[in-house]
Amino acid sequence: MIKYLGSKRVLLPAIREAVRDLQPSGTVLDLFSGTSRVGQVLKQDGYQVIANDHNSYAATIARCYIQADRESWLNHAQQEIGRLQDIADANPVEGDNLGGWFTQSYCRESRYFQEANGVRIEAVREAIQAGAYDPELEAILLVSLMEAADRVDSTAGVQMAYLKQWAPRAHHALELRMPELWPRPTSGPCQAWRKEALEAAQSFSGGLVYLDPPYNQHSYLGNYHIWETLVRWDAPETYGIACKRTDVRERKSAFNSKPGCAVAMEEVLRELHGCPLLVSFSDEGYLAREQMESLLRVHGTVETRAFGHPRYVGAKIGIHNPQGERVGKVSHVRNQEYLFLVRPPS
Ligand SMILES: C[S@@+](CC[C@H](N)C(=O)[O-])C[C@H]1O[C@@H](n2cnc3c(N)ncnc32)[C@H](O)[C@@H]1O
Repeated sequence: MIKYLGSKRVLLPAIREAVRDLQPSGTVLDLFSGTSRVGQVLKQDGYQVIANDHNSYAATIARCYIQADRESWLNHAQQEIGRLQDIADANPVEGDNLGGWFTQSYCRESRYFQEANGVRIEAVREAIQAGAYDPELEAILLVSLMEAADRVDSTAGVQMAYLKQWAPRAHHALELRMPELWPRPTSGPCQAWRKEALEAAQSFSGGLVYLDPPYNQHSYLGNYHIWETLVRWDAPETYGIACKRTDVRERKSAFNSKPGCAVAMEEVLRELHGCPLLVSFSDEGYLAREQMESLLRVHGTVETRAFGHPRYVGAKIGIHNPQGERVGKVSHVRNQEYLFLVRPPS
């Protein structure tokens, strides 16, 4: 699993319990799926899951872990990952001019990966492209590559900046592993969508919806722009020291704006009226607990569960400027995470 801000790893047992308590019938929609961790445990619990996220890398993760079933792909994917590892191991070739666009952008103009790993990532990505695979198998291979690259990156967990000194893990050679796939639940096949939250809410009928929107101004696309590029493989124009894709400036989420967040949430909720809802939010988010409760009360009775939670890993590592220098102190390392359970009137 990649390092991901806002990942609900620690809250998974509480989320599982809350979903059980809401007694969903039919499909469960994870509207902002990110790493798809939540969808994965729900798929394991036997729910028919739809995982949605508007970023390509997240939709690819969901296609691998949520849509693709273990029994369909395990053997074939293992074979292909072995073949791709051979390609990684055969690189860099001595006397080669060391990679192309990816290596130039993320290993020389910026320093997210050591050059040797940049070349390996690039060689494997080209092989996946050339393979013209079924989209589910392709997603498994891309996730294997993304996770391997994440294990040798030199960041504090976001791609706003790379570290001034190489992270020790960056010196290891790229190693592809088989992502852990889950069997198809008996309730039916699961799906991955790449839609705007509002459009996904409009397309959904019946069942429970889990909502874990961004909490603040930090754009996920900006924080994980290299994964977006690795998946799209579109050699985009980039800007700044962090070499972000220029479309980071245009592809905005309303949930990343303080004035836009409540309105966007209201619009999405309106489309989901009548569904049981489970909402994750934090006391550091744009909406205070009372505000969120009053938005939700329109759609049913609200029960709030609060959890003390360690802040994201970056909070412990410290605040860094784009050059990777430590520039400030973090005020606190714990925050409150809320789960809001909404039961619609019967
Ligand atoms: C807090 S994270 C979700 C984390 C996820 N629950 C996990 O455990 O990994 C929010 C996600 O919402 C996605 N997102 C942001 N705005 C969106 C929008 N308007 N429509 C769909 N997805 C959006 C981001 O790409 C990000 O992955």
